[in-house]
Amino acid sequence: MEFRELRVQKIKDGVVIDHLKAGSALKILEMLGITGSEGFVITVAMNVPSQKLGLKDIIKIEGRYLSPSETSKIALLAPKATLNVIKDYRVESKERLRLPDEIVGIVKCSNPTCITNHEPAIKSKFAVVSRDPLKIKCGYCETIMNREELAERLSRERCLQ
Ligand code: CTP
Ligand code: ZN
Repeated sequence: MEFRELRVQKIKDGVVIDHLKAGSALKILEMLGITGSEGFVITVAMNVPSQKLGLKDIIKIEGRYLSPSETSKIALLAPKATLNVIKDYRVESKERLRLPDEIVGIVKCSNPTCITNHEPAIKSKFAVVSRDPLKIKCGYCETIMNREELAERLSRERCLQ
């Protein structure tokens, strides 16, 4: 019997965000503020069969790397993703992302009266109170945000920058 596989090409230099939850790739790109009009070669594979996950999404961005803050944002929305840095076709580093216990300075509190939204010197700070479903609690006003609110805020704040 003949087996046929559709393979996404290897890239020369850039990043591969792998093991994303099936169907989540476009949200991740949106959160990163990547629209496609920047000119980078971007390959998005969605709902690809995976040994570990059943189905997964993959994003490959050529000629661009991710900042620590972009990486932290991906870890919040896709805590099981793998970030591969590719240099000259080789996987130079592989980082299994994980949701930290504390999230500092990445996302603003949803409470408009929270001190972190009024004092620029005070960094936002959240504790992860539940991982699945995700719930984070502001260290100042105790407002709780869930994954949807977090995703929405991360995308919006990126657009405002
Ligand atoms: N990749 C790529 N271009 C390269 C090298 C790797 O696009 N030049 C991609 C691979 O297709 C894969 C990811 O980067 O999606 C990680 O590559 P590799 O570590 O070789 O694959 P695995 O061992 O399957 O990774 P893991 O153990 O993280 O599943
Ligand atoms: Zn707050």
